[in-house]
Amino acid sequence: MRTQVVIVGAGPAGLLLSQLLDLQGIESVVVERSDRDRVEKRVRAGVLEHGTVQTFREGGVAKRLDVEGISHDGLQVRFNQRTHRLDLQELAGRSVTIYGQQEIVKDLILARQESGGDVRFCIEDAALHDLDGVRPYVTFSDDGHDVRVACDFVVGADGFHGISRGHIQGRREYERTYPYAWLGILAAVPPSAAEVIYARHERGFALHSMRSPSVSRLYLQVAPDEDLAAWPDHRIWDELRLRLADDDGFTLNEGAVLEKSITPMRSFVTTSMQHGRLLLAGDAAHIVPPTGAKGMNLAVADVRLLAFALGGYYADKRLDLIAAYTDQALRRVWRATHFSWWMTEMLHKAPNTDPFAEGLASAQLDWIASSRAMATAVAQNYTGLPYEQEWSYR
Ligand code: FAD
Ligand code: DHB
Repeated sequence: MRTQVVIVGAGPAGLLLSQLLDLQGIESVVVERSDRDRVEKRVRAGVLEHGTVQTFREGGVAKRLDVEGISHDGLQVRFNQRTHRLDLQELAGRSVTIYGQQEIVKDLILARQESGGDVRFCIEDAALHDLDGVRPYVTFSDDGHDVRVACDFVVGADGFHGISRGHIQGRREYERTYPYAWLGILAAVPPSAAEVIYARHERGFALHSMRSPSVSRLYLQVAPDEDLAAWPDHRIWDELRLRLADDDGFTLNEGAVLEKSITPMRSFVTTSMQHGRLLLAGDAAHIVPPTGAKGMNLAVADVRLLAFALGGYYADKRLDLIAAYTDQALRRVWRATHFSWWMTEMLHKAPNTDPFAEGLASAQLDWIASSRAMATAVAQNYTGLPYEQEWSYR
């Protein structure tokens, strides 16, 4: 069979791209190795930048997001048991919205289905061919049948562990690992505060977030090789209570743990994001530690650029926009990589106490709490820097 663009991976990047291409009259096939249920249930990101929300609106997939998303005008940073609120609206003129990534993924799958999109789950052995020529193709096994799809472009939106990045010949990779991971829980309990709280404590970092008026999302810094089995629910709540405590009598609401998992932390950037007719988007090309809440937002920013560049190719046979994709995308990626690294270093506690690093972290937190210029820099990065252009070519 034949289509215009084959997209490998039905995460937020792949699904959104398929949607934005469809809105420009460009056909795509999305191939995903997991089953739909698994894709829709993966609990991950929660903080959407202002521009990400706008993009979902323009993409026609924000009906539920506009009802259920929780808009936050502020962000709280807690250290030395004191809380400093950054007024995002006042400092940056923008808010962020809390809405689970898996809800976005459900909304996107539904939207693709409603407009007759071709999204295939449970495909096996996806392989990319002839990426150097103008007629690449992708093969895979679908329900026991061997399928071959010819196309003009292949987009690798298959996450950090996908197969696409390996096809970028001569690529350079930049990587930083961190001596900690996040243990995250979803709990059936109303949030303990109206806003997200980033807390630095001598026992390690903790984060308070939410998904709805009755569901909280909380994270704890743990060791990178931590065994989840060593964390029964009562231990998680005890640790969260200690690390989130403040001098104003903050009380943590506790309840049933619905889901828990451990996420390693890594910064990773690859270049180029293009090889011939293959283009990478989202986590396939770059990973940030979750402290800045940037991963999914960066995936959306990549997809906007790709939607525009592919729009230019099909409308006017332009290849220059595709050639410019990597440089354009990487400007934002490196900005977010710096912000995420900086937030991570400032808020976490190194496993072997390093008094020099401790001094730097305290100095930076004091600076954010006392300088409007610094608070503004955080607010601008957190709510998301403006895009350089529209996503739609016409
Ligand atoms: P993915 O979501 O990884 O999707 C890739 C898809 O490709 C998957 O469905 C996978 O099954 C599929 N795939 C892989 N290999 C193949 C193959 N060979 N064939 C076919 N399909 C394949 N980001 C934020 O912006 N804000 C946050 O608050 C935030 N918090 C986070 C908290 C946690 C605990 C975690 C883990 C992540 C967080 N992130 C956050 C990051 C965010 O979840 C990712 O950046 C985002 O999922 C990237 O989307 P993607 O579509 O590029 O990749
Ligand atoms: C959430 C995730 C993050 O990575 C973050 O920095 C803030 C909140 C969340 O899942 O709600």
